[in-house]
Parts: sequence; C-alpha cells; structure tokens
Amino acid sequence: MRKALAAVAGLAVAGLALAGCAGGSAGGDKGGDPNQVEVFTWWASGSEKTGLDALVKVFDQQYPDVTFVNAAVAGGAGSNAKNALASRLKANNPPDSFQAHAGAELTDYIEANKLEDLSSFYKENKLTDVFPSTLLDRLTVDGKIYSVPSNIHRANVVWVNNNLLKKAGIDPTKAPANLDAWLSDMKKLKDSGVATPLSVATDWTQVQLFENVLLSTLGADGYQGLWKGDTKFDSAEVTKAIANYGKLLAYANTDGTGQDWPVATDMVIDGTAAYNVMGDWALAEFDAKAKTYGKEYTTWPTPGTDGTFDFLADSFTLPVGAPHANAAKDWLRTISSADGQKAFNLAKGSIPARTDANASDYPAYQQGAMASFAKDTVVSSLAHGAAVKVSWLNDITSAIGQYVSTKDAGALQSALVQAQTKGLGK
Ligand code: GAL
Repeated sequence: MRKALAAVAGLAVAGLALAGCAGGSAGGDKGGDPNQVEVFTWWASGSEKTGLDALVKVFDQQYPDVTFVNAAVAGGAGSNAKNALASRLKANNPPDSFQAHAGAELTDYIEANKLEDLSSFYKENKLTDVFPSTLLDRLTVDGKIYSVPSNIHRANVVWVNNNLLKKAGIDPTKAPANLDAWLSDMKKLKDSGVATPLSVATDWTQVQLFENVLLSTLGADGYQGLWKGDTKFDSAEVTKAIANYGKLLAYANTDGTGQDWPVATDMVIDGTAAYNVMGDWALAEFDAKAKTYGKEYTTWPTPGTDGTFDFLADSFTLPVGAPHANAAKDWLRTISSADGQKAFNLAKGSIPARTDANASDYPAYQQGAMASFAKDTVVSSLAHGAAVKVSWLNDITSAIGQYVSTKDAGALQSALVQAQTKGLGK
C-alpha cells in the first residue's frame, strides 16, 4: 500500500518537475517507487565493499524510508564499471547516482551533458564551506559544480613488509631517498632470497606505478606539465622515466596482468613481496587482514615523491534523467555529512574531504595523510581519472600494456607522444 501510494506521489512529483522545468531534467522523481536510490560504484567486494557498507549504514540511519539499491560492478579502479556505465548513459538508463573521480574524468561526463549542475544543492547544504578549494576546483566546470566528494585518496604510497626488509638488513622505517636507492634495496632483497621485491597486478596498477615513476623522475611541475602539454613526452626526462620503470619492473612479478589490486597488496601482507605501490585503499586491505601499521608493515611516499600528494577523490553525481532524483539528493547529503564521511573514510583508508573533520578520530596512517594533504604539493593522479580524460588514459593504458610484455622503450615513448597529441586535441 505504502509503495502504491509512493508510486502515485512519485508520478505527481514527476508531473510537477516536468511542468516546472523545461527539458525535463532531474528535478524530482519520475515514477516508480520514489523511495529507492540506485547507486553505481565499483566497490563490489572485499575491503571496498566494507567501505560502501559503512556509508550505506549511515544512509539507512539518516533516511530510513529510502531503500539503497546497490548497482556495483566489480573491478578495481572502475576497470569494468566505466564501460558498463557508459552503455547505461548512452541508452539513457542512468542510475540515480554514480561514482566518478574528481578532475578530468568528471569533465568527460559534464561535456557529454550527462550530469546535473549541483550548484544550488551545494548552496542549500552549505557545502562550499566544508570542502577544500583543491578539491572544489576539480569538481567545478565553468563555475558550476557537478558532484559531491566522499573522500580523498593518495596514489603515491609504497606499502612495505617490515619483516622481509629487516631480514635483508634494510631499515623499513627509513624511506629510500630516490628511485636509485630504492632499486639498490630491491637488489638486496633479491639477494636475500625474496623472489618478488615489488608486486604489481593488472594494467591499471601498472599505469599507477608508471605515474609514480613519472612523478619521481620529473618532479611535481614536470609531471603536471605532461597533462597540460608543457612537458613533452619525447623529452629526455620521459626517456629516463621509462628506463626507471623498466628497472623497477625487472624486480616485479610478471603474472600480474588480469589480477585485481588486492592480489598484489596481499603479496606484501602475506610476505611474498616486499613492496607494493598502491593507493591508500590498501590500508583497508591491511586492516581486513588484521595487520598492524608500524609493526608488520609501514608506508612511505614513493621514493623521490616526498612532499607531493598524488591526489584522487571519489565523488558522486546526479545524472541527467536519474529516475529517483530526490532520493539521489538524500544519498548525496549522506555522503557530504560529517557522519557519512567519518564512517566511510575510517573503513576505506582515505581521508575525509571535509575540512572540519577531526584528525584524532583517525588512526596513524590517515593522520599522516591528512597532514601531507594540508602541506604538500597536490598533483592529479593519472590512473584514477584526475589528470586526463578517459580516452587519453585508455591510450596510455594500452601503451603500458604493450610495454610490459615487449619491454620496447622506444615504442612506449612514441605511443605516449601520440596519446598526448590526441589527448590535448592537437
Ligand atoms: C580508485 C578509487 C578508489 C579505489 C580504487 C581501487 O579508482 O578511487 O576508491 O576503489 O580505485 O578500486
């Protein structure tokens, strides 16, 4: 009965919305049961699902009448989800809200007119005051703001197995000063019998490793310049970065392709690899396996990138034509709320996007990440949608995939040059 009434109410609201808003953009609920919200993410399993569940728990408390419909598509970094989402958007069958990275990836959706402007939502909920400008800038296009951030992740983090390092005579608490020093520690590890000093998984983790090497080799300005065209991919520094990347891969497992990120992170947890370069969603994986930060494992910024925070943020949208736009706004309110951000980030390993969060609510790793975000140079992650649009990232991903199997440095550099020319639309 409640549902039937709700459906009638929904139609009425839809009628009002259509009458009041030419073009029929999402301004109300357009039929069906308005008391549900279908949310699309790639947090389908393991520690990522635990993070989503923590957020949904707060949502259920804040909006007990709205049913959360989980439309997650498995595959780290949205490797499968982004294509599935593109098909739904193309077919004008959007979910009520979907996960998208702040930055260039979001711009793709905005330019395709797939997202509602949330400026008035920000105003009503006084959100411009609670998020940092570094983040708001990446969510804003032409003065309009299109999504609500749930968190901030760091992509230049090395996860370190303390025991393996100690056994090889290396002090895990001291980060190597640069890539060369790190490579010589990898040699020591190999000599001590560690078959896989560095673990990698599937293509996007290989891209993320390459992004870290670019950042370390070129520095923050040189790295940022790549995405604006100020740094050329045919430069000597990029040649050097590719050489560094090849040296690192020589210490990595060769069976990563096709395996999702937890496989590589678990190798550090289980002691079959010494290092894994991974975003700080890895923290939740260490927590899930009951490992203690500072005891069994530690972290440092990727050697040569200290003082730089390689940034990405997950954010949630209101797609044009969302069937349950009002419920979607409820979901966005939970995401932006202090309670929602705290529950989610404690479970996810990221730091809250809200600047009024209390650092003492968080464990040591996240306190360190918050301090770094506040003082470091913030750069945009390549592998996680902040630096370049999806098509450019796809071109880089296939070039890296080729390189990982052929080790042809010249071919990689030419492919990167072409991808930059195409990506910048020249
Ligand atoms: C990133 C996302 C993170 C995490 C990671 C691995 O792109 O922003 O929240 O889920 O992928 O899947």
